Amino acid sequence: MAVDILLDGLKRLEYRGYDSVGVAIASEGLKVFKDKGEMSKIEPLIPRWNGQMGIGHTRWATCGRPSKENAHPFVDCTGRIALVHNGIIENHLELRKQLEEEGHTFTSETDTEVLVHLMEHYYDGDAHATLRAALSRVKGSYAVAAMVEGDGHIVVARKENPLVIGVGVGENMVASDVTAVLGLTNKVVYIQEGESAIVSADGISIFDAQGSTVDRQPTPITWTVEDAEKGGFEHFMLKEIYEQPAAIHNSLLGSLDEIYAGAVIPDIDVSSVKLVACGTSYHAAMVGKYVIEDLARLPTTVELASEYRYSPGTGECPFTVLLTQSGETADTLAAAREARRRGCRTLAVTNVVGSTISREVDHVFYTNAGPEIGVAATKTFTTQLIAMYLLGLRLGAMRQTIDRTKVRHLSTELRSMPRYVSGVLDRASQIEEVVEMLVDARDIFYLGRNINYPTMLEGALKLKEISYIHAEGYAAGELKHGPLALLDASTPVVAACVNDHTREKMLGNISEVAARDSPVLGIGVEGDRELAAITDAMIGVPRVPPILSPVPLTVVLQLIAYYVAKKKGCSIDKPRNLAKSVTVE
Ligand code: G6P
Repeated sequence: MAVDILLDGLKRLEYRGYDSVGVAIASEGLKVFKDKGEMSKIEPLIPRWNGQMGIGHTRWATCGRPSKENAHPFVDCTGRIALVHNGIIENHLELRKQLEEEGHTFTSETDTEVLVHLMEHYYDGDAHATLRAALSRVKGSYAVAAMVEGDGHIVVARKENPLVIGVGVGENMVASDVTAVLGLTNKVVYIQEGESAIVSADGISIFDAQGSTVDRQPTPITWTVEDAEKGGFEHFMLKEIYEQPAAIHNSLLGSLDEIYAGAVIPDIDVSSVKLVACGTSYHAAMVGKYVIEDLARLPTTVELASEYRYSPGTGECPFTVLLTQSGETADTLAAAREARRRGCRTLAVTNVVGSTISREVDHVFYTNAGPEIGVAATKTFTTQLIAMYLLGLRLGAMRQTIDRTKVRHLSTELRSMPRYVSGVLDRASQIEEVVEMLVDARDIFYLGRNINYPTMLEGALKLKEISYIHAEGYAAGELKHGPLALLDASTPVVAACVNDHTREKMLGNISEVAARDSPVLGIGVEGDRELAAITDAMIGVPRVPPILSPVPLTVVLQLIAYYVAKKKGCSIDKPRNLAKSVTVE
């Protein structure tokens, strides 16, 4: 029965994180069951309908909070078309308005629901042509599967979201990830960017973006379920590091075009900013201070949530931004309540839609990085950095401290960031080799200046978390006030040096370190011969405007931490004593 196969597949995807579950089965009409919550609680409630065809979904909320109404599948007003979707429909508000004017009744807050009503609008008996017509109206990203009751086939399409067809005997399956079809088949056909397909029990037809037929043979898969969960990566952390180009892209989706329209924060009078967070999010906040001061010329302070909540307060009411990837960190929640008690307007930057923080603040910016399983934050950090750039650009535009040319330039560079990050990922094997110089160290110093001082604090934290080596991030200018006493041939230094106004000073600091015989690993702009000449090894990153350099540099630092921990045989995804979300004080 289709329902059992669907539930098994969805269970295999549980590790990815989700907040609701739903299935639709073609069985004497369309039958749908969906709800918010865990699979183990929802599964027993789902009737075992007798149908042979169906679609199912586990949702990780992005647009609209986790709820029964917002869970997939969605069904059109006639009750004949059902649809599930991964991705983000950027122009959903505009489409929803038009469809409502035409008389369509919406039942959810999601962007996805416009797709099923668009299909209803275009439906002419051919589900594949209808899906293509519906998608031609849409801006955004999708992997979508839809079925029309009585049709005997499922239609699917993809743009920037994965989609795979499992080829069985007398049955075929469609999924967003190979993991879901393992156990049923070891032959899959990967749907490529812009393609669509019609899938029935005994046939698969694939079409390119122009609608012409594509001939593609299935690929055999040799993965075990365990391999596949990690997409072939050895650890979730590595998988998530590699997901950063897509995560950054999703984080930017829609927001850049709307810098002037108030997508990030509404028009409010801001005279100062306070950024509050814990752990890795605190480092994103520290980068945020440099960004906001530079772009918006606003006095900006940064505080640890655990300190802020017990601080006396000054009677001033800065615009208070709380960064928390989970949205559940106890200290950050308490800080949000304290900020509101003090009369401050609050904005949360979080990755989890519907998380507690989203209900405690005035405004929310979602980073849309997708679920993160590894305890050490990676893609949720780089997308928090993206949020800081968007916030800085928005505040700068609002206060007219940056002109349109600069906004345009930084926006273009941000749009290219997924490509720059891919450029860093291409250097993974070089990084894997170079970390030999760090593996046996007891202590390592991470040095940076200016906006890359917090970048190096984060690099040191990553290494501590997963390799258990004592690593300390330091502002390079402070070297002479203490750490210099600790440097010798057994204490390596990782130093960031980019093409900003502190470059000469940084080069000087690196020379001081090298003079104490510390092995130096430099991270700088590719082709920087001067840096290469004074370091023992150098990793180059693509040249970006210095204000954006924390992003590519961070990816190098994540890979350094990862490969050191791997060489030491550490438990990378679940470091000892640490938790992903710290909900106690
Ligand atoms: C824990 C996690 C860290 C995270 C910190 C703050 O310590 O292990 O990775 O940076 O909490 O979490 P938040 O969800 O508030 O960003």
